[in-house]
This record gives sequence, structure tokens and C-alpha cells, in this order.
Amino acid sequence: MLPEQGDILWTFCTILFTVFALYAFINVVSLSRERDDVNTKFWGGIFGAFLLVMFLEAAHMFSLNQQEQLAFFFGKMVLTIFLLLLTWGIFFKSTEIENQSPPIIRAFFWWTTISVLLAGYTNWLPQQRSDPPPKATAFVGEVTMEEYAEMGRVIIFGTEQIAGQKAIGKGQCPLCHTFEAGNNIGRCPNLFGVGERGFTRVKEDRYLNEPVKVGELEPKSGIVKGAPDQIPEEYRREGAGGHDSMTAEDYIRESVMCPSCYVVKGFGKAGDKVSPMPVITKPPISLSPIEVNAVIAYLQSYNEPGDYSKVTVPLPSADEGPTETAEDEGDAPIFVTGAEPIGEMINTLGCPLCHTIPGIEGAEGELGPKLHEKVNAPKRIKDPRYKGKAKNTKEYVRESILNPNAYIVMNEEENELFPEGLMPQDFKNKLSVDAIDKLVDFISQTEG
Ligand code: HEC
Ligand code: HEC
Repeated sequence: MLPEQGDILWTFCTILFTVFALYAFINVVSLSRERDDVNTKFWGGIFGAFLLVMFLEAAHMFSLNQQEQLAFFFGKMVLTIFLLLLTWGIFFKSTEIENQSPPIIRAFFWWTTISVLLAGYTNWLPQQRSDPPPKATAFVGEVTMEEYAEMGRVIIFGTEQIAGQKAIGKGQCPLCHTFEAGNNIGRCPNLFGVGERGFTRVKEDRYLNEPVKVGELEPKSGIVKGAPDQIPEEYRREGAGGHDSMTAEDYIRESVMCPSCYVVKGFGKAGDKVSPMPVITKPPISLSPIEVNAVIAYLQSYNEPGDYSKVTVPLPSADEGPTETAEDEGDAPIFVTGAEPIGEMINTLGCPLCHTIPGIEGAEGELGPKLHEKVNAPKRIKDPRYKGKAKNTKEYVRESILNPNAYIVMNEEENELFPEGLMPQDFKNKLSVDAIDKLVDFISQTEG
């Protein structure tokens, strides 16, 4: 996928730098050899070391995504080349081969100095985005199925794709789910082929009886299991019947409106009796009926060609009024400045989807540890498994948010580690300096 790709330009520059370091090495060695009074081993060693560092950095570049490459290039590589050039200049001067380094080196030196300064300056600027306000596309009635499915795609992934970031829209689904065949991050089902799976699943014993029986009310969502005809009318498929005539569409709709009606094996809590997925028609996600059906339309349409890629959801009709696809909060890239009240900030970032957070109403997520950091953090730091850099609670909380994989928390209830990589790794791109300070202050105080 595009945002995960490396950037060709930076990769190319890296290779160029490495070749340049090789050239410097050869140049220095051959110049020293020509002269008896110059220590070839000493200078060869220094420039050999530069070459090695450059080579390792270039190799590392290939394992990074675009955003990280950019930071690495300006943070580390340019600095290395700067030092290399500086040393090269010193070499020329101290060995009196020339009383100044050659013009090409001096020019390059100035170029890199300016790059380093510029990189420093832009990092120092507050990390504000100035994307234009998103346009709300309203439509009435006459919408094609392709457009409707596209609306669903926007609700899931948003319209803005920022390089190196997972694209996430108002529905927040990609926080937990993957969508491409074969891509499993661990704790939540891959949604590829969900319609086809669901269609056969609704006839299985496990579906009929667990965790509630078909025909029973699931209390958290207020939905009757396996009864598409009893779904609130504004969501319902035309001609919806009972369990016997359940379609793939009905299964998907039930999965999102009543996650605990059926819990996919291995993905639930309490022995797969409770789903950790939020009801998407309720806060914090709160999709409208039109949006829920748009999401289903997208899930149906992106499947492989065949029976299950047919979209069967009802199109919104003209008398349902104008439909907003792109609402401001749902569409804009997620970013908090720190001026928001703490509760709003935490909800915008989506922490409550996975964490139970004391003091934040409705934050009852269960995919990650309960955030009782006033007590938890000191325990984590003392754990022999802890290899991070934090010395106190605040540092630990900051590290957990900006670099979640520094330490993976043990899930004591299940007696296994929480899944690595489930907590989003890109909060550093979504928070201003003020916002992260405020968030860390708050989370560091939380206790059970
Ligand atoms: C906080 C994490 C989380 C979020 C956010 C989330 N889900 Fe889920 N979802 C899960 C988990 C865990 C399961 C598996 C347990 C279950 O069956 O409910 C699941 C199950 C499903 C299933 C059934 C999958 C199957 O294989 O049968 C569908 C469909 C689904 N989610 C769609 C969505 C959509 C669409 C969204 C966004 C509007 C979304 N989910 C948001 C965690 C999440
Ligand atoms: C998609 C689910 C998900 C979201 C969203 C999420 N986290 Fe996490 N978080 C996890 C998981 C899973 C862990 C445990 C694994 C680990 O240690 O990385 C975790 C661990 C943590 C920890 C360490 C907890 C401890 O007791 O040691 C902190 C602190 C934390 N998250 C804060 C946050 C904050 C703040 C946000 C919102 C800005 C957030 N998380 C959003 C899943 C999530």
C-alpha cells in the first residue's frame, strides 16, 4: 500500500552518499600512500569507519517507511556526511596536501550544513498541519452504488492519506482491523472475505448458540440476534426476513451493530463470550444508518469478484434528506493541538476504543491494559523484561504512547503478552508538543 512504501528519492540519495563515502575512502588512502609523512593506517581507518557507518545506514533505510526515512535521512545521514566532509577537510589541512580542502568538498560541506540547520529548524517549529478544511460533499437521492461504497471507504479510511500513517476515518475500523487478504495484525479479524465467511457461519452451531442464542436479545446493543427483520427499520434491508433467510449483508450488519451477538473464535474476551469491538452505532464511533450501510457497501464491494462482491445494501433515498459523506471530524487527519479539554482529546485519538481509562466517561475499551498508570508504570520499569529508557512514571507513559513497542505489557488475566503492534505506532504524528505533555500529565495520574 502506498503510505507504507519507502521513498525512492531518499533511498537513492542514501545510495549516492554511500558511493560518495567510498570515493572519499579511496581518495584519502591513495593520497596518503603517495606521501611518506602521512599515516595511511590512521586516516584509512577513520574513513573506512565512515564508509561502514554510511553503508549500515543505507541498509537501515530499506527497512523504514516513507515518513521514517525522511526523519532518518535528515536526522542521521546528513549528519554523518557532514562529519565526513569536516574530517576530510581536516585531513587535507593537517597533512598539508593542500592548504585548504578542494572546492567541491567545501561546496558540499556548506550544502549539508544548511540542510542540517533547516532540518533542525523545521523540527523545532510546532508540528501543526495546515491542511485546507475538508469539503463536505452532500448528495441527495440519486447516488450510484459505486458512490455509496466510496462513501463507505471514506468513513473507514478517511480521504487524507498521510505518508507513513495508517489511514483512518471516522469509523476508526483500521485501528483494529486489516483489510487486505493475508494481512493479520493479531487481535482483530481481517475483514477480507467477511461476507462469504458470514454467509456460511450463520448456519453453524456455534453461531446458533453462542454467546447468545438466535432470537435472544443482546443487551449491550439492544439487537435481537439472527433476526434481520427486527433490526431498527432505518438500517434494515428491504424484504429482510428471519434467521433462515439471512444474507452475507445481514451478517455484516449484525457484526457491526451487535459485535457481541457472535464473537469470532479467538478474538473475544472472557472465553470468546464478549466482543471487544465497540457498537459502531453508539459512542464513541456513532455512525448514522446511512453511514453504517455505506460501510457495509464498501465491505461487500472490495471483495474478490464473484457472488460476494455484489453490493446488496439499500441505497439512501431522496426523502432521507441530504447525506454528508465527509464530516469535518471524520474526514480531517486526526491531530490534536493541546487546546482541547482532555476528554475530547483522548476521544479524538481513539484511546477509549482499546483502553479503560479512569476519569474518561465511556472509556471502557478492552483490547489493551487498563490505564492505571500511577500504579502500573513504576511496576513496568522494575520488570526485568523492561528494556526502555524511562526512569519515572511520566517518562514511561510518554514512551508508551510515542513508542508502544518499547515494552509489551503482560495481560495477567489471559496470562500472555498483549499483542505487539496493535497499539497505533504513529501517535507522534498526531500530537502537538503541548498535547503530548497534557496527555502524559493526565495518564500518569490515573489509578483504579
Ligand atoms: C477497538 C477495535 C475495533 C474497532 C475500532 C472495530 N472493530 Fe470490528 N471487530 C473487532 C474485534 C476484536 C472483532 C472480533 C470479535 C467479534 O466477532 O466481535 C471484530 C469483528 C468485526 C466483524 C466480524 C468479522 C468476522 O470475521 O466475522 C466485522 C464485519 C467488523 N468487525 C467490522 C468493523 C467495522 C466496519 C469497523 C469500523 C466501523 C470496526 N469493525 C471497528 C474490533 C474492532
Ligand atoms: C488499537 C488499540 C489501541 C489504541 C487505539 C491505543 N492503545 Fe494503548 N495499548 C494498546 C495495547 C494492546 C497495549 C499493550 C501492548 C503494549 O504494551 O504495547 C497498549 C499499551 C498502552 C500503555 C502502557 C500501559 C501500561 O500499563 O503499561 C499506555 C500508557 C497506552 N497504551 C496509552 C494509550 C493512549 C494514551 C492512547 C491514545 C492516545 C492509546 N494507548 C491508544 C492498544 C491500544
